[in-house]
Amino acid sequence: MFYMFTIMTIHFVLFVFGFCVLIDIAHANRYTQNIDGKTKIMHEWVTLEYDFPSPMKRSLIDQKLLIPENLALFNMDGIRGRIFTTIGRTSKPGIPATLNTVVKRNGKSFLKPFPSLKLNRAEDCNSIQSAQSVKIDPNTNYIWVLDEGKVNNIRFCRRKLVIYCIRTRKEVFRHIFPDSVLSESSMLFGLTLDRDQGITRYVYVADSIANKLIVVDAVTNASWLFSHPSMEGEASAGNITVNGETIFSRGGINGISTTSDFKFVYYFCVASFKTWQIPTSILRNPSADSIAFDENVRMIGIRQHHAVSLTSGTRSFFFPALEINDIIKWDRKQDILIDGSEEVVNLRSLQRLSSSTALNFADGMHVDNGYLYFVTNKLHKVRLGNLDFTGDDGPNFTIGKIFVGEESYLLGTRPKSYKK
Ligand SMILES: *[C@@H]1O[C@H](CO)[C@@H](O)[C@H](O)[C@H]1NC(C)=O
Ligand SMILES: *[C@@H]1O[C@H](CO)[C@@H](O)[C@H](O)[C@H]1NC(C)=O
Ligand SMILES: *[C@@H]1O[C@H](CO)[C@@H](O)[C@H](O)[C@H]1NC(C)=O
Repeated sequence: MFYMFTIMTIHFVLFVFGFCVLIDIAHANRYTQNIDGKTKIMHEWVTLEYDFPSPMKRSLIDQKLLIPENLALFNMDGIRGRIFTTIGRTSKPGIPATLNTVVKRNGKSFLKPFPSLKLNRAEDCNSIQSAQSVKIDPNTNYIWVLDEGKVNNIRFCRRKLVIYCIRTRKEVFRHIFPDSVLSESSMLFGLTLDRDQGITRYVYVADSIANKLIVVDAVTNASWLFSHPSMEGEASAGNITVNGETIFSRGGINGISTTSDFKFVYYFCVASFKTWQIPTSILRNPSADSIAFDENVRMIGIRQHHAVSLTSGTRSFFFPALEINDIIKWDRKQDILIDGSEEVVNLRSLQRLSSSTALNFADGMHVDNGYLYFVTNKLHKVRLGNLDFTGDDGPNFTIGKIFVGEESYLLGTRPKSYKK
């Protein structure tokens, strides 16, 4: 009986997960301009703006249902140049949609609610309450959304993981996080996906405030957690200074990403310079305990700067370096060659990607089709509450890209060449 149930579940998930596969994954590079390794800004805003008709915008503003100065970009992902981005609304009113795509008209960028304005409705647990992070799986054309379940400090819904098919805008899966994996203080910030036998099956979620790593198995619809001292921020590493302004954070595990052979996950905390590695074989095992975790986790090196996100391509990992307004590339494959194997690899081959560009708190990042995409959001200013809305000091939010010649780790290790 149990066996049959399992088979049926896997069948169901296989069906669902194979439903909206993109046909042209090995598409040609759409961006032909040569950016010589320099950053190209695709979208920028002083104040974020929705793609609503003017009368609707005015009416929303009049009713305080839209408060433009409360809008701040958090995270992003993209597929074939199409951008999806999140605006956290756990603690602010006046944000009509938390998950949006970005459209451009007459040179101006606008946010367009996804899957729809209706499915962003607060108080409706069918809809998304506060999207923190998103990940797009280019194998299936699905977007995985972490929803904090809270709007303007009111918890309307349980925290959930929802998957939408981008093409049909239909929900294909949801997991409701049970109390057993959450704490009072839980804040689900980052996520990375892991593929097993050709299925994007496991999700690793960084609970940055409760200092936990939560695993969701999308085949069994179950979740479990790991905790370890490596997931806790360090008071001695809590001061983050960006462009002369300092914020203090005790933030725990936050940046997290999987390797393109799906054998390891790397992670780090906001308030720490240490970078860690754990085999996916431990994470995937629901009966592995903290002892097994402790025996298999390994510190691979100390970074020089703070970072709030981590992503990976087919060979390298990428993370911001906040104090120097840059993004760092770690050539993991190179260091595996030097050190002999991934089990003993150290953080050595580091390279600054964009030294000439003021990045201002580079946040959510993703590799797609040769480019590293990233959000800059002056989060230190949002936190300090002195974000200047006059526009004199340049854009507050940007979505940029930089050529790195790699694909998303989710497409695996097969090599592919790019033309800049
Ligand atoms: C997973 O379980 C939750 C309840 O915990 C349920 O609401 C949801 O529909 C389930 N998802 C699937 C795909 O079965
Ligand atoms: C962090 O900054 C505060 C305020 O400036 C200071 O008192 C504290 O000593 C700093 N901590 C560290 C570890 O540098
Ligand atoms: C954005 O930041 C610039 C400075 O970089 C400032 O002049 C502008 O007023 C800010 N606008 C918003 C909406 O934050």
